[in-house]
Formats: sequence, C-alpha cells, structure tokens
Amino acid sequence: MNILFVGDIFGSAGRRIVHEHLGHVRATHNVELTVVNSENAAGGFGVTPQIAEEIFDWGADVQTTGNHVWDKKELVDYLGSAAPDSHERPRRLLRPANFSPGLPGFGVYEGVTASGVDYAVVNLQGRVFMGNTEDPFRAADALLSRIRAKVILVDFHAEATSEKVAMGWYLDGRVTAVLGTHTHVPTADERILPNGTAFQTDVGMSGPYDSIIGVEKDLVLHRFLTGMPGRFEAAKGNPKMCGALVECDPMTGRASRIQRIMLGE
Ligand SMILES: [Fe+2]
Repeated sequence: MNILFVGDIFGSAGRRIVHEHLGHVRATHNVELTVVNSENAAGGFGVTPQIAEEIFDWGADVQTTGNHVWDKKELVDYLGSAAPDSHERPRRLLRPANFSPGLPGFGVYEGVTASGVDYAVVNLQGRVFMGNTEDPFRAADALLSRIRAKVILVDFHAEATSEKVAMGWYLDGRVTAVLGTHTHVPTADERILPNGTAFQTDVGMSGPYDSIIGVEKDLVLHRFLTGMPGRFEAAKGNPKMCGALVECDPMTGRASRIQRIMLGE
C-alpha cells in the first residue's frame, strides 16, 4: 500500500504546484492514502475553509496543520462544525492533538481506504522553540492506546531536528510513518527505522523556494538587517511540491520503503 504525504503548502505558489502534481503522482504510484499539510496554504498564514475544500477536491483524504491553524478565523467554525464520529471534510482537517483540551477540531482521524484498509492520521506539534502545548510524546502514547488501525501516519509539526528525530525513535514499530513538517526545509535523512517505521525529519514545504522559507526574500532580509517589524508576503518564485511516498504492508502497518519527493514546474 502506498501513502503520499505532502509537506506544508505555502501560499498561492504552493497551491498551484500541488494542484499540478498531486493527481499524476497519486496515479503513477497507485497511492491509496493522501495526506497534505495545508497550514500555510492561505497566503502563508493558515488555511481557509474554501482553500481546504479545494485541496480535498484535488484528492487529499486528510489534511494536517500546525501552529498556524488559528490564523484564519473562519477555520475555527469549520473545525468546530465536525462531530467526533463524522467522516465529512471538516472532520478530516486536523489540528495538533496536543493543544489545550476543549479547543475546536481533532488531532487524529481514523478512516478506511477505498480498498478497505483501516488507517489513522495523527497530527502532533513539538515544544522546542515553539508555543506552549502539552507533551507530544505522551499525547502520542494516549492516542496510540486507542487507535485500532495498523496503518498510522504521524505528522510531527516541530522546529527542532532533535525533537523530531526523538519522536521517530519513540514511535518506531508503533506507527507506519513519522514525517516532520514546519521548518519548510527538507532533510535528506529519509529511512526505515529498525522496527519498521518510515521517518524523515522534515519533508519540506510545498511552496516557492526562491524565498526565505516561503516569504519574499527582501522582506525577511530587511528584518534581519534592521530588526524593524514589517509585513511578510508570500513569495512566488521557483515553486516545488515536496513530500514523501511511503510503502507499507496494509496488514501490519510496517513500512518497507520511503522516497523523498521534490517536484518543480
Ligand atoms: Fe508551522
């Protein structure tokens, strides 16, 4: 069984390149489960319900997010509209599971693929150099004790490579894949850990690479050079769709192969 995971869509350039490639990559690799991190799809800050719906239209089964999930106010109602046992689109757009209790939305989704394979997608956020959340490691333990599916994909949205590598080892043999997002820079360390978990520290953003992690270069440089605040704008140049393809045994959830993806225009 093949799973496609697409890294953080950033702005309109990111949406365009993902729209261009998602269909043929899914078809060529006979992808049965498509998960897309869309947390910066709306101009580089958050995602709107309308954009989320578009990404579902392109073939995403589940969308994940991260620290920018509340940037667009409309999304709060969209997430809040989903019942726990629903399989409708708002229920398939996740926010990190280890946010404070009682917030709108869910951090895990359990579904069934077209060929009848049970799967789960888990969204967690790191704590190192990031906002306050609950312990992602113990949140993973709690979620995994309740999930019955064997095929489990974890999007670990975190800044520090150390915390992400730690999560990979912590969940090795307990999930199909631990794939990192948030830094917008892909790492070249994709591998299958000894107990059968596919891992990559960060799959990279799907967005404009002639930029500083998605934002217009000059605006970010100005801030570094002067320390003055300024408006950030999503860049457009050199868009790439980044992500990972994971092959696993649908019966055991064990991963057998991971391939890094970076597709340009
Ligand atoms: Fe992020």
